[in-house]
Order: sequence, then C-alpha cells, then structure tokens
Amino acid sequence: MSATAPAICTTHPVSVPRTGTLQWWHTAVIYQVYPRSFADSNGDGLGDLPGITARLSHLSRLGVDALWLSPFYTSPQADHGYDVADYRDVDPIFGTLADADALLERAHQLGLRVVVDLVPNHTSDAHVWFQQALAAAPGSPERERYMFRDGRGEAGELPPNNWESVFGGPAWTRTTNADGTPGQWYLHIFDVRQPDLNWANEEIRQEFRDVLRFWLDRGVDGFRVDVAHGMVKEEGLPDWAGHSAMISEAESGEHDEVAESDDGGDDGADVDLGNAGPMWNQPGVHEIYRDWHAVLAEYGADKMLVAEAWVSPLPELAKYVRPDEMQQAFNFAFLASHWHADELRSVIEHSVQVNDTVGAPTTWVLSNHDVVRHATRFGLPSAGGNVEPVGPDDLQPDVELGLRRARAATLLMLALPGSAYLYQGEELGLPEATRLPFDVRQDPTIARGGGLGRDGCRVPLPWEADAPSFGFSATGESWLPQPQEYGRYALDAQKGDPASTYEFYRRALRMRRDYALGSGGLAWIDVDHPDVLGLANGELVVLANTGSEQIRLPEGLEPLLSSIQLDQHGDGAIFLPGDATLWALRTRGEVGRKPFGPD
Ligand code: NOJ
Repeated sequence: MSATAPAICTTHPVSVPRTGTLQWWHTAVIYQVYPRSFADSNGDGLGDLPGITARLSHLSRLGVDALWLSPFYTSPQADHGYDVADYRDVDPIFGTLADADALLERAHQLGLRVVVDLVPNHTSDAHVWFQQALAAAPGSPERERYMFRDGRGEAGELPPNNWESVFGGPAWTRTTNADGTPGQWYLHIFDVRQPDLNWANEEIRQEFRDVLRFWLDRGVDGFRVDVAHGMVKEEGLPDWAGHSAMISEAESGEHDEVAESDDGGDDGADVDLGNAGPMWNQPGVHEIYRDWHAVLAEYGADKMLVAEAWVSPLPELAKYVRPDEMQQAFNFAFLASHWHADELRSVIEHSVQVNDTVGAPTTWVLSNHDVVRHATRFGLPSAGGNVEPVGPDDLQPDVELGLRRARAATLLMLALPGSAYLYQGEELGLPEATRLPFDVRQDPTIARGGGLGRDGCRVPLPWEADAPSFGFSATGESWLPQPQEYGRYALDAQKGDPASTYEFYRRALRMRRDYALGSGGLAWIDVDHPDVLGLANGELVVLANTGSEQIRLPEGLEPLLSSIQLDQHGDGAIFLPGDATLWALRTRGEVGRKPFGPD
C-alpha cells in the first residue's frame, strides 16, 4: 500500500472537444441485442422480437441511446441468423415483419435509435439465389452471383485454392451435378452453409442498395455491416501462405501478444487482429461503402453504418470511416487490450488520433456475441486480450476479480469521447458460461473443428432470480442452459441495490450524458505510478488503477463515481483500491489546461 499519493501533474492533450453539428452516432452508447437470447415471448425457449419490444423500457431506464439488433431475418439458423435466406423478411422464430415494425415504433417512442445487422458477404445456402445457382450450369448468370470455380487437379478434385474457413476446415466445398457427377466448387469463408457472394457482380450491388432502402423505409437508423472487410477478394484468388504461419503463431501464443511499436514500447494499437490475406481488407471494399454512404444520405444525415472489420493496424481501419464511407467502425484493438495501464493508454491514444485524421468518432467496445465476455476475460491469468473460448475442462476464471476489473474497464471506456457499444448482459456483470457442457454447445464452428465455439457469451439473459429460466421465457425453456449462478445476476436482484453492477452502469451512463463525455476531448494526466492511467475529459478526471495495490488519492479531487467503493481512512485520506477506476472532479484549478496536482 502506498502511504503517499502518487504525484499527478501535467496534462497532454490528445484531442479537443467536438464542435459543429453532432449526429447522434458521434456520441451514442449503443446496446447490442442478440435476439435469440434476450427475451422469449412465446415460450419456445428462443428469444424473439415481441420479447425485445416488451423489454425495451429496460434499455431506456439503463440510459443507452440506441440498440443494435443481431440478425432476425429469415434463416435456417446455421450460424444463428448470420446465414440469411431472405433479407426482407423476419424469421418465424423471431416473429413477423409487423413485429419488427412494432419494435421500431416502440423504440422510437422511447427515444431509442435502432441499428440492424446487414450480412452482405454471404447468404444462406437456403437463399433462393444459391438454390438457383446450384441448379444452373457453370458460367451461368445464376452462378455468377456467388464464387463458383472449377477445382484444381486433373479431374477438378482439388479445391481452387488453399484458403481456409474462419470456422475451420477448407473454405471451398464441391457441388454435385444433377447427374450425380462431381461439379464445381464454391467459396465459403465461414460455414459451408454460408456461400460468399460475388461483389464484382453489379446485380449483387443493386440488390444490397435495395435491401438498405427496404429497411430505411421502415425507419431503421443504421446498419452494422457484418464482415465489412471481406466482401472483395483479391483478383485471381491466389493461394495464401499465411494460414500455416497464423496457425504456428497461434500455437506459440504469439497472437495474444502485443507487437512492439517503433519506439520499442508496448503499443496496443498494433494488436494483430489476425485477418491478413487475399480474402480480407482489399481496397475494392471502399467503393461499396462510398456507394452505400450515398444511399443512406438519401434518407438524411442521421443514418449510419458501423463496420465490423477485424483489420489492423488502426490506420487501415480508419479508411472505413473516411468522410464519404461509413460513420463508425468497431474498435477491436481496444477490445483485445489487456488490463494494463500502458497498453490501454497506447491503444486509446492511437485510436483517437487515427480517427481524428479522418474526422470520425472513435468507438469503444469490450464485449459482443463473438468474444468471451469481458467480465471473464479480465478474470483469466492473461487479464484480457482476445482470448479463446473457455470450456469446462479449462482453467476457470477468477469470477470476482474478473467482474471487478470489468467494472473498472467499463468506467474507463465510458469516460472516453466518441461512441461506446455494450453487449446485452454486461450491465448485469454477467460472466461467460464457461462450464456449458460440450453436448449443448451449438456454434457451427465446433463441428468444423473451430474450437469450443461462442455459445458461452450467448446464454439467455436472467431477468428474474426466482422465475423459471430466470424470467427469460414463461415456460422455463431456454435454448442454451443457464448456469445456476446466473440467478444472482438477474435484473430484479440488482434493481435498487446501489452496489449492484446494474445500478453502477445506470449511474455511469447518466453521468456520461450529464458531463457530455461523448463529445468531449481527451488529455492524459501524468501519474507517477506505473499501474495508474490518468486522463481528463472536460471537467472530469479519471484514474484507472490497473494494479492490485490501492493508491492514495491526491488532495484536490472530489470523487464522483468509482467502479468499487473507495476506502476512507480515519485521517480523511481516500484510497482507490486496486483494479478500480474513479471519476472525480478537481476541486482546485482547472484540469486539462493547467498543470494539476499538489500545487
Ligand atoms: C461476424 C458475426 O459477428 C459472427 O457472429 C458471424 O459468425 C460471422 N460474422 C459470419 O457472418
């Protein structure tokens, strides 16, 4: 324990407050709803749109600005909706188009914007276009909508190139001709039931312009673009030597490491997100986004696109949010950071600076439906990073430490200027369901040898501690079993308890609004302690203690909100515990303009 407070002095401006016209997405906190697992209205154990509509007041009470809905379109659910068979309709398991309209209307009444998912890289194999393509001859217009190729080898028995699917196994599957003979191969960067579309074909481009207009006409406020870095493939579909390199890197654990920056220090901004190769981040994708930007502009300046693009380094990602392309891109470099002051400082600074070069808001995200929940990541020995799914036979996280750090990381995130994304359940402090038995896991990646899958972060939400399936479904059905301990995370068990994670999120979101942090600026405050990150956003001073030792707060700070209770000693000294973040106001002098600290 340090008896003396670390010296806190100079500030280094990183960015200035945003001026001019602000659109909602410049500063919004956007809550991701994974429809299957949010709330079930009809008792079949699968969440649905009426279930979401009935629970929208939870989101407005929480204090978010918008929700993003993962796909609810017609789909055989081979990848839980990321395999779309009809982009203009709702899958019966989720409801009807009228239910989607009702959800939009209710959300707008509550002042919530609605972002929907768009899945343009691939369709479902059940899409009428793919069925037509299978029935048509090689070279036909029907096949030109997808990526069909003849195989290599004397009889075409080898796949057209060596690409591997993100979900494991080859990225090509051979078709069978009507007469039973083996036919051409088609490309699927994901599951075999998710054939890649051919974005060199103008018909595809026209179709997606129309799909955008279809949902914009119904009133949606924006689109989250799935696999935004994958739609265009390198001309000629060349073999890629990188697969084996990536596998050996992953095996040696290098992927979880942070690359050394030019100056020799840790630079979180250079986190390798792994997606190199001729199937990713081709320059041609940007033309598509310029086109879509124009489509959205037909509906006014307040519509937005957010890119799901796992590209690095950050300047590559910034290309997706140039003024005439998308409005936002998920900041996965931040998500993949460890709970480490220097690394966080580096990735935050680089993110803000790089986005400033193109005038786009920076986004922040810690959890989503594809990654291990951050309350669990931070309780693992790695203390964060984009870790592999955890199973019952793996080393289990320290749940208490994970939640403590998760709250601290969230409070740090919500202090940052720009827009932030929350994933359903994180406001309850929900951990990953790491002990899900192997035989109930459903992620398609498992069958393809892609590991344990992502089910652990997709388990249905607990709403009521004492109700069947914790209030997820009136019948007690749940498509994935909920761990018994989810009862103590239930919303009704937390409401009104000032120490609960839920009430903590509410307070943080309200203050983020009150102090206009989303449109604020960022300055670093030098703290003479290696584990403590100090920053100022407007009047607010933020100290994130990533170490395990408590630190004494310097005088002149008035605590506003902390991720865990502060320790007050008899002599009046206040301590910020380890693995905790504090929001405070300066009671002497001005933060961010003048040196700050023991005057
Ligand atoms: C990214 C989505 O977030 C993920 O859930 C999905 O499996 C892939 N894209 C394929 O659509």
